[in-house]
Amino acid sequence: MPFPDDHDPVGHALSVLRAGGLVGMPTETVYGLAADAANDLAVHKIFRAKGRPADHPLIVHIGSAEQMSVWANNISPAAVRLADTCWPGPLTLLVPKAEKVSPVVTGGRDTVGLRVPAHPIALDLLRRFGGGLAAPSANKFGHVSPTTAGHVLADLGAAVDFVLDGGPCPIGVESTIVDCTVSPAQILRPGGIPNEAIAELLEGLGGIDRRIDDLGPSRASGMLSSHYAPRCRVEIVETAANADQRAEFLRALGQHVDVIDPSGDLTLAAQQLYAWLRNADEREIDTVVAVLPPPQGLGHAIRDRLRKAAGKG
Ligand code: TXA
Ligand code: MG
Repeated sequence: MPFPDDHDPVGHALSVLRAGGLVGMPTETVYGLAADAANDLAVHKIFRAKGRPADHPLIVHIGSAEQMSVWANNISPAAVRLADTCWPGPLTLLVPKAEKVSPVVTGGRDTVGLRVPAHPIALDLLRRFGGGLAAPSANKFGHVSPTTAGHVLADLGAAVDFVLDGGPCPIGVESTIVDCTVSPAQILRPGGIPNEAIAELLEGLGGIDRRIDDLGPSRASGMLSSHYAPRCRVEIVETAANADQRAEFLRALGQHVDVIDPSGDLTLAAQQLYAWLRNADEREIDTVVAVLPPPQGLGHAIRDRLRKAAGKG
């Protein structure tokens, strides 16, 4: 592997991808572990590096909404509207896959998840690459997603050929996943675009098939009960007062306890959430007591990830 060109790190990433390697890619949500979506051997490496089961489909990242028709067929009016209004941005659309999309990428399904990320480095990479980049979050399977280049290296080390450092991810939680192969559309995972915004955009096109208050766990992650999880225990409580009480009780038992309360500033809390959980592990915290924020805006995604981290997802 040649040394990275300091003046053109994206150019170096391109040469790694074209040679079938893996690149840590900053996005506005979390870092992705990217490979050429048209190269099955390269995509296999993603599953190996993450320890991820082969039937878990990967999102294909593309450089513009116009490229959707290269990867998908029978794109519904709902998908077109969401793509036109939210891309580039933290939204993944499930659409019927085009024949050329490899079953290695889709885990054998006949749908594909597509997203145009908004991070300038990811967009530059995608536009210069021309094709699609299959990329899950760049963490070990089941672990907390990475929001810095350092997190990617800490999780994957030598399994990743090159990491593009785009600084901390500005949103901090993953994309919202909307299944547009059914009508009305379904939100499978709350994320960076609030559920309320999706519902509003789909007014007149069938809306969404999900009450947008807070029906429980996201269904897109292999339906696992524990995901997005740190090593320490995570307990969730409804109020700050409950959190203090619970923390006091656990400390009296001799535990090291952190309290996190994302309710104040949801934007900041989403940005920091995964770093908080990783930091708790570094400091060998036994239990994180987390207050669930209200189910509004980014609160949907934060609630979902905290529940998954607590293994109650
Ligand atoms: O923000 C994000 O979405 C980040 C960045 C890197 O783009 N990516 C991400 O990928 O979170 P991943 O693989 O960690 O989570 C994507 C989820 C998985 O739970 C996967 O099962 C689901 O999306 N998914 C992808 N394609 C799918 C498909 N065709 N059908 C059902 N679920 C799908
Ligand atoms: Mg993930």
